[in-house]
Amino acid sequence: MFPEQPSPPPLAPGQIQVWVANLSDWKNRLAEFRAVLTPLELKRLDRYKIQEKKQEFTLSRGLLRLLLSAYLKREPSKLEFPVSPDGKPYLQDSSISFNISHSGGLFLAGFSLFQNMGVDVQEVYPITARPQVIQSYFSDAEKEYLEKRPGGLDAFFSLWTAKESYLKARGKGFRLSSKDFSALPEGTSPESYMIYYRSECVQGWSIAALEVGVGYKAAVAAEGQVREIQLSYLQPVSIPGGE
Ligand SMILES: CC(C)(COP(=O)(O)OP(=O)(O)OC[C@H]1O[C@@H](n2cnc3c(N)ncnc32)[C@H](O)[C@@H]1OP(=O)(O)O)[C@@H](O)C(=O)NCCC(=O)NCCS
Repeated sequence: MFPEQPSPPPLAPGQIQVWVANLSDWKNRLAEFRAVLTPLELKRLDRYKIQEKKQEFTLSRGLLRLLLSAYLKREPSKLEFPVSPDGKPYLQDSSISFNISHSGGLFLAGFSLFQNMGVDVQEVYPITARPQVIQSYFSDAEKEYLEKRPGGLDAFFSLWTAKESYLKARGKGFRLSSKDFSALPEGTSPESYMIYYRSECVQGWSIAALEVGVGYKAAVAAEGQVREIQLSYLQPVSIPGGE
């Protein structure tokens, strides 16, 4: 059904395979993606009132199903992933963990053997509510870090994605207060981050920035030592006679 079914190499311990897709590239496959959604997903789709949101959900779920079917060698429509009490989808009968994120038309999906892993992508845009977001969600140490980078939209979104990838890896979402911990760059350039609770460094986590494209910031977090991150782009193949 999907000619672009990828064939990822088997996941190695310590490795994270990240897939990136531009949702607009996949627009003419909407009907096929809709056809692999479960009744529960179709119900959720029905609840979205805005057409763009419907499309985003269908495409991102479809891509997730396409990728998971490649890892698990099962039909996309037959895959079940329950959600944790905090809303994080997971696989019940596999050691593979996955997490997805979408923003500004870009889709990101991470797969690994880490038990706790999360990804986040954010479109960089001149957000007017930046001072309020910083005030509400960032710790004092992060505020201090950002104050030294005035006008630093890139620094703001880089920190946001690092922080949110950690929140998503923990799977707690808003139940974990984002002001209680800090994600701060490990060195001078924000390629990898350390987590601090107050001034105590939390050991055992790896958080890395991902280069996913101009105008976006992204990060991946995992509990354990990440040895390798493989980044691949997922593109539709053109179908003869198709649009
Ligand atoms: C769920 C949450 C983590 C996702 O945030 P988001 O940026 O709106 O959305 P993303 O596109 O990155 O991720 C959405 C996907 O994450 C997954 N997800 C849902 N709940 C999750 C959870 N508790 N943990 C990890 N992943 C989760 C789902 O697959 C979801 O996809 P779906 O909506 O298509 O089902 C968000 O509700 C949340 O609690 N965020 C914390 C926000 C915060 O404090 N931000 C301040 C700046 S750091």
